[in-house]
Amino acid sequence: MEPLKRLQADYPWTKSPLVSCGPMRLIALADLAVEVSRAGGLGFVGAGNDASVLEKEFERVKQLQAGAQVLREVKEVLPIGVGFLLWAGDNLLNEALPIVAQYVPAAVWLFAPNDVDQFTQWTREIRRATNKKTKIWIQIGTVAEAVEVTKSCQPDVLVVQGQDAGGHGLMDGAGLVPLLPEVDDAVSSLSKGNKPVIIAAGGIMEGRGAAAALALGAAGWTMGTRYLFSHEANIAKGYRDAVVKASDGGVNTARGKLYDTLRGTRDWPERFGGRGVINETWQDAKDGMSVEDNQRLYDEALAKGDDGWAPGSARLTTYAGAGVGLANSVKSAARITEEVREDAKRALKQASNWA
Ligand SMILES: Cc1cc2nc3c(=O)[nH]c(=O)nc-3n(C[C@H](O)[C@H](O)[C@H](O)COP(=O)(O)O)c2cc1C
Repeated sequence: MEPLKRLQADYPWTKSPLVSCGPMRLIALADLAVEVSRAGGLGFVGAGNDASVLEKEFERVKQLQAGAQVLREVKEVLPIGVGFLLWAGDNLLNEALPIVAQYVPAAVWLFAPNDVDQFTQWTREIRRATNKKTKIWIQIGTVAEAVEVTKSCQPDVLVVQGQDAGGHGLMDGAGLVPLLPEVDDAVSSLSKGNKPVIIAAGGIMEGRGAAAALALGAAGWTMGTRYLFSHEANIAKGYRDAVVKASDGGVNTARGKLYDTLRGTRDWPERFGGRGVINETWQDAKDGMSVEDNQRLYDEALAKGDDGWAPGSARLTTYAGAGVGLANSVKSAARITEEVREDAKRALKQASNWA
């Protein structure tokens, strides 16, 4: 089945092209995910490496679904997805599986395993637990990974994450412009009849970037950073203000492992790092400050709450992508979803003047 028909069949409340929000760990929760779905997209809850939030968030999804006319009729699945970080290991799978089986989210998003066997194991177990009702989305960042995952898991969706993405991604990788078409070619030659649907992620903030992703061969796109500019993102005011203020993300954001060290999230596999806005913590480390001194200052900043992001002395983690300068106001996640989708169509029409 061609990608647009498949997406329509699997997520019948959605509009085309498919807009989704990345499962940002403990930032994208039920309120954000349902707003995205309510606007004809697919919202993801970010469970990350911990299943303990799941039941509460899924119950909240059901409650919000009941109040959203377009989602009320969706019966077979919960009209959202949920994302997991696979490096957390078997405990996470064992805890998540019965809850996923009970609530049947429309999709599960898998990312960052220790090795490819974890992708295979999760895919098999989730498909078994939900009788394939829950679709498998796998986020990858290289052509080799895309090929390996397509062969071993035959995912429903491959999320192709380019280097501009906010939050965690591969330390080494390409931007979407070279990456996505090469992935598309590689998986097309592999998987004839059941090629995974390709969704783009990384640096897409507004209609023009989204239109470019479609021109590269994607059937839709995922945004993380753009939804940090939404009322529903579960972030501190200081964090939100810092992303609103940031611009020129190519030089004012960077990817690395420093914040995982300082925040104590050190279990990420070596090949991943987090992209965030450069601030005093980053600058001091670059200028040679020891991890101990930086940690002390970080902990002091943490105790200050929102002031830990104060302009001029900001030290706290501000994960955001290279596209952070492309938005400057906070809106509802539903409005963002609708606007970017409509602007993308407009940008495509305009670009077709060249054809
Ligand atoms: C603050 C933040 C947290 C994120 N957390 C996760 C996560 O927990 N799991 C995951 O699979 N992806 C996570 N991502 C990455 C997104 O899935 C997606 O690849 C990325 O946001 C796309 O790039 P963009 O930020 O430029 O839109 C996160 C992104 C951001 C900005």
